[in-house]
Amino acid sequence: MRGSLTIAEIREQPAALSRLLEAERRPLLRLARSLRRRPPPVVFLAARGTSDNAALYGHYLFETLLGIPAGLASPSVVTIYRTVPRLRGALVLGLSQSGRSSDIVRYVEAARSSGARTVAITNDPRSPLAAAAHDTLLLHSGVERSVAATKTYTAQLAVLSLLVASMAEDRRLLDAHDRLPRWVERALDADDAVRPLSLRLSGVRRCLVTSRGYNFATAREAALKLKETAQVAAEALSSADLLHGPIAVVGRRFPVIMIAPPGRTRGHLRRVARRLAAQSARLVLVAPGRGFEGLAHTVIPVPAGIPEILTPHVAIVPLQLLAYHLALARGFDPDRPRGLRKVTRSF
Ligand code: F6R
Repeated sequence: MRGSLTIAEIREQPAALSRLLEAERRPLLRLARSLRRRPPPVVFLAARGTSDNAALYGHYLFETLLGIPAGLASPSVVTIYRTVPRLRGALVLGLSQSGRSSDIVRYVEAARSSGARTVAITNDPRSPLAAAAHDTLLLHSGVERSVAATKTYTAQLAVLSLLVASMAEDRRLLDAHDRLPRWVERALDADDAVRPLSLRLSGVRRCLVTSRGYNFATAREAALKLKETAQVAAEALSSADLLHGPIAVVGRRFPVIMIAPPGRTRGHLRRVARRLAAQSARLVLVAPGRGFEGLAHTVIPVPAGIPEILTPHVAIVPLQLLAYHLALARGFDPDRPRGLRKVTRSF
């Protein structure tokens, strides 16, 4: 059946997260302890596609929770320009669910040779990425058979938030992870709201996806899923950047998806939602609901009461469902995105 792999893996996420929490907590704590002993002055995260969207979340975490400057690596510096940046003492995280994205493997090898401490975050302990890095953190997602990544994305987010919470010795945040599988389970209930929405949006060919802070990663990942599975030209923009010009494309009934969970970004997002409503956008809001009355055409509910830092793990779930249903409604097979393979060679 079309999309059967994708939907099975979307629904598997609570179980996959439980496996990860059970199996990887100790290795994570060990690594965090060793990183606390010699804190890195700077962190770079190297990844592509969905893994790069998880890396963006990690970037925010290192800076907000630990105050360690972080950035996304540019693998082309190594693979195309054949330069190795001076990375002595830096922490370099290579994220790749397959562990086989060749430029990420090359970047981690180069970083290690230039003196960085390297960590692979992957679903395959026998992958070239795991072999290249000093340490490996595993996703425990089980084989991901669908080409579009879903369960490995939420696992990557969880590895990053567990690692940074352990480094920060934030007990409360660490404990909150135990509730993640249940929150993700509840987010799957959004299917009832998402299915009819996908029928209403089936004629849509382009849209914007926006949020800010931790959930900018959610906007980017949702846009990627909408592009590759439903062939909707979805552009992800931070809501701050949206105001700096791109808001001009928003005319009557232009679809904009906004991820607005409770937390520090909410007041700003409400103001942006008002601007979008004033321009007659067709606003789809991913939020627990209250506070945006009269602004959104559709609200996709997500569970309330989640610490802001952990909302990306949950808010992406209804958007994975939306991409899946929209692909089917538009006549595409979500299991077979056009032009995409499970492992991509980009140099
Ligand atoms: C998106 C997708 C691709 C991969 C990218 C990186 O659904 O599947 O964008 O995320 O090719 O793959 P890995 O994580 O194996 O390096």
